[in-house]
Amino acid sequence: NSNPLIQLGVHGNGIHHVSVNGSFYPAKAKSRRQRWEVKPSEMANNTFNPIRAIVDGMKLTPNPDKPMIALSIGDPTVFGNLPTDDAVLQAMKDAIDSQKYNGYAPSVGYLKSRQAVANFFSCPEAPLEAEDVILTSGCSQAIDLAISVLCNPGDNILVPCPGFSLYKTLAVSMGIEVKLYNLLPEKSWEVDLQHLESLIDERTSCLIVTNPSNPCGSVFNKEHLQKILKVASKHCVPILADEIYSDMVFPGCNSPSMASLSSDVPILSCGGLAKRWLVPGWRMGWILIHDRNDIFGSQIRQGLVKLTQRILGACSIIQGALENILNNTPQSFYDNTISFLKSNSEICFNELSIIPGLNPVMPSGAMYLMVGINMDNFPDFKNDVEFTEQLVTEQSVFCLPATAFEYPNFFRIVVTLPEEMMVEACGRIREFCERHYRLHCVQQHRF
Ligand SMILES: Cc1ncc(COP(=O)(O)O)c(C=O)c1O
Repeated sequence: NSNPLIQLGVHGNGIHHVSVNGSFYPAKAKSRRQRWEVKPSEMANNTFNPIRAIVDGMKLTPNPDKPMIALSIGDPTVFGNLPTDDAVLQAMKDAIDSQKYNGYAPSVGYLKSRQAVANFFSCPEAPLEAEDVILTSGCSQAIDLAISVLCNPGDNILVPCPGFSLYKTLAVSMGIEVKLYNLLPEKSWEVDLQHLESLIDERTSCLIVTNPSNPCGSVFNKEHLQKILKVASKHCVPILADEIYSDMVFPGCNSPSMASLSSDVPILSCGGLAKRWLVPGWRMGWILIHDRNDIFGSQIRQGLVKLTQRILGACSIIQGALENILNNTPQSFYDNTISFLKSNSEICFNELSIIPGLNPVMPSGAMYLMVGINMDNFPDFKNDVEFTEQLVTEQSVFCLPATAFEYPNFFRIVVTLPEEMMVEACGRIREFCERHYRLHCVQQHRF
């Protein structure tokens, strides 16, 4: 070959091949594999989705006489009663028809789309520029990038309990330790601040705060958020604020973004279109970088950019639609969704409150409601997994056992289903509980 680069062993792919004995290949390999041995990597082996592990291990055989009602899936589109807004659909159609978004977008997203997100979320207390926004494939990728940029193997992260299981799934697969801090059901799932603080050590590299919460449907008020920030500030721990349910807050509640309250703690706020715009399958998420004291500095920003270059994130068509989605969705769409979620939550809470042995906790936002089970009153079952399994067998109602969120003796209900199905489901849960309830002399706690 007359190409001098090829002669040097430098190929177009930039990989340098070492020449031994004037050849590109060593004359004799030191040791070669004698037989096939293809095993999953440690990372694959350490990747564990607790929801799948628990649900797949359950015997879910519905009662053939009753149609199945699944209250378990956090996807607001499954029942067809909560379509997204026409403006959202139109934005997507226009993006396709323009033929402008068929190519690769920059790894951090189109500047115009990042600017649109910055404009949408910017506020005087927490201003955002386009370069503070990174577009991702769903909020899940935003969380993945945020954990990846902040943590090394051997570090630990603080995760709410009960909490969304993805944090642990990602962290454990990266060799990061997960420390669970308690939320308090009797205080509307506020953080046990003392417990939180007691977990922090010199290897704590990130505090995850989910507000509003999956699985609790709880919403922290300003004062509580300030107390969490104070702990983070005192111990110099950055925050990953999972705010995918931001603004999905029932009327009368108010929950500012963490960043708008932080004077010093640097925050990576993760969000996306999935829930508020009711299009989880479109896989559009973002990271908002809040760093007014320049603590993340250019290094964390550059780290994030590098990580986005592993795999391009958000689909370019949805990026092309993003500006119009954010600017053209009418306020009435958000309001209608919230008022539906609130009304369904109230129906569910009121129906379940009068069932002996159950302790529902009224949510203030998001789309979930947690229900405590007084297991002493249900001696037929060992735990929440058996309870919810038998509920499927007898009543064809499937609620997610909260063991999936590391919180046994509770189950989670998704409140996005049509109202009449919610009423029917609650009636069946009542029938089930009345059948299995046994009086127990230990004093009961109601939240
Ligand atoms: C708290 C929380 N964070 C993140 C996500 C993931 O969102 P996405 O579907 O945009 O990846 C979910 C989805 O259920 C969630 O509940």
